[in-house]
Amino acid sequence: MSISKSIVEHDKQVVSPAIYRTVDIAFERGEGSYLYDADGKRYHDLSAGIATNAIGHCHPKVVQAVQAQAANLMHVGTPVGHTRLYADMLDALRATMPAPLSNGKGVLMNSGGEAVETALKMARMVTRRPMVLAFTESFHGRPMGALAATASNSGYRKSLGPLLNGFQHVPYPNCGSCVYGHAGRTPDNCCGAWKNMIQMMLDKLVHPDDLAAILVEPIAGEGGYLVPPPDFLPFLRDICNKTGALLITDEVQTGLGRTGKWWGFEHSGIVPDIVAMGKAIGGGLPLGGIMAIKPVADRWPTGSHGSTFGGNPVACAAGLATLEVMKEENALENAAKVGAHIAQRIVNEQSGLPLIAAVRGRGMMIAADLKNKDGKPISMAQHKQVVHDIAANGVIVTKTGSCGLRLAPSLNLSQQQADQALDIIFDVLHELSPQLY
Ligand SMILES: Cc1ncc(COP(=O)(O)O)c(C=O)c1O
Repeated sequence: MSISKSIVEHDKQVVSPAIYRTVDIAFERGEGSYLYDADGKRYHDLSAGIATNAIGHCHPKVVQAVQAQAANLMHVGTPVGHTRLYADMLDALRATMPAPLSNGKGVLMNSGGEAVETALKMARMVTRRPMVLAFTESFHGRPMGALAATASNSGYRKSLGPLLNGFQHVPYPNCGSCVYGHAGRTPDNCCGAWKNMIQMMLDKLVHPDDLAAILVEPIAGEGGYLVPPPDFLPFLRDICNKTGALLITDEVQTGLGRTGKWWGFEHSGIVPDIVAMGKAIGGGLPLGGIMAIKPVADRWPTGSHGSTFGGNPVACAAGLATLEVMKEENALENAAKVGAHIAQRIVNEQSGLPLIAAVRGRGMMIAADLKNKDGKPISMAQHKQVVHDIAANGVIVTKTGSCGLRLAPSLNLSQQQADQALDIIFDVLHELSPQLY
């Protein structure tokens, strides 16, 4: 038995089946955009730890920063006292944001789910209002509060209710599969029926005076990398301006350059009141948090929130080093350029590979939907086989939406590396196509 297989076997004996793994491979080492399994086999990593490793694995500057910090101070505990790195990390994050967030204040936690919960607590406590408008197709995390906002798949909630109350969901605009029945539209000529639905919610169900916040992903990540119409976030911003509710963008996945701009909301020309952050900001270590505009942040009373590990010095050191490298290596420009190249190559492949039904995304968030001849999503089992076969041939990808291959590589992936990985993916899809299409 290979070393990788024996680790997987051991894992299955001691890890609860609640924990899902996309591939049954045991990884041992990472370098740049490559992962290596325990037997030394190399893989192109187009998952980047689920859209997390912004500059790939184990960048030497990040490793050095982590080692230096670990030798100096690993943990203090937020409730105990101050560290230079906690404030430096928030300062560096807000420096990537437009005003008034650039002058905002934040809180650091350990994960994206905690970041969302922090944003929700802040919004409820500051506005003293109970209700939050959220969207189907959204994923905000697994803790019970974030889960109550999540609506991309009922499986996440199964047998767990009742969850935190106070959420009203409306459909996320999804022109490729319009719930209002307007087929054939794109975000640029969207029917706009979602506006009526939101307005109807406010007229009939949620009194505007009860609305604490609107919580929204600038691109629905787990929902299938759905890019909404350009007027979506401005419309939500307008509602918040009129009602006094706070606009929270969940940038856990879209954040820190993944879409080719630092934050997903920047593509819409609006500024939210609270930004929830996670994944990439810790440079590969667990770090999440929020940045809020100052008048909101300052109204949250001292002692209302906290975390033992949140803003851990080693995670902050990794995050700060990652931000530096991203700037030095022009990671945002690369994400926009190579991301567009990847998307275009998949579009070009579609004519000879009709199994690929749609291509969506922005920057290094790219989804390719796989559907059969009847236009139906391939089954879960078939998707698993596709991902498994792609991995067996040396590329790691994951799933998004009902049938999307999710390509979310590191932002500094070169065009040449992208092409090599895509060649492998296309070969596998051509091979499987007669079975699936
Ligand atoms: C948009 C979004 N929000 C929140 C989360 C939850 O983050 P975490 O898994 O770090 O709790 C995720 C994770 O995929 C996410 O994509």
